[in-house]
Amino acid sequence: MKYVIEHFGKAFKWHLIEYEHISKLVGKENLIFTNVKGKKDSLSAFGEVKKESIAELCFPDVCVLDPASDKILTPEDCRRFKYLVFGGILGDYPPRERTKELLTSRMPNVETRSLGKKQMPTDNAVYAAKLIAEGKRFEDIAFIDTIEIDVRKGLSVELPFRYVESNGKPLISEKLVEFLKKRKTI
Ligand SMILES: C[S@@+](CC[C@H](N)C(=O)[O-])C[C@H]1O[C@@H](n2cnc3c(N)ncnc32)[C@H](O)[C@@H]1O
Repeated sequence: MKYVIEHFGKAFKWHLIEYEHISKLVGKENLIFTNVKGKKDSLSAFGEVKKESIAELCFPDVCVLDPASDKILTPEDCRRFKYLVFGGILGDYPPRERTKELLTSRMPNVETRSLGKKQMPTDNAVYAAKLIAEGKRFEDIAFIDTIEIDVRKGLSVELPFRYVESNGKPLISEKLVEFLKKRKTI
């Protein structure tokens, strides 16, 4: 399976940290970034980089992962699909169906699937899809909803998203936790 991240806008530090994490989760050789207009170099360490949007590239057997889709991704689907496409979109709260607006609506003939209605960070959505591609059913994946990260003494940030549970903890990269701790503004 190839995992495609359709990037939007500039590559912010947060994006880069998530993209590096995705690369570790699925392997650099299985990861493609599309719609990268600017700094290709910062992403090429993590996967293949293309300036065209996935909507312009005629890849076969594509499925867009969109929380607004009414069908849940299954292991059977993954035997038919060759490319799973995700929005390189940071979470917004409350969610505004940005995947539908920015991605799905531009690819009307492409199949879509969801990983449930709750919004996950892109790295977690990719990991959940990978588990499904490897044969696990969506309903058998354990999730943790809304996490709190202690950033300074007496101060924490709440991340109101859904995370895959991994070894009893939410799947979040150490680099992102460090980034949140060092950030001046909360
Ligand atoms: C942080 S999410 C952005 C979601 C965006 N706020 C929305 O409402 O569409 C980043 C990407 O992860 C994937 N994703 C996250 N949660 C998902 C879910 N529940 N089902 C399917 N895809 C999901 C989508 O590809 C999405 O574009």
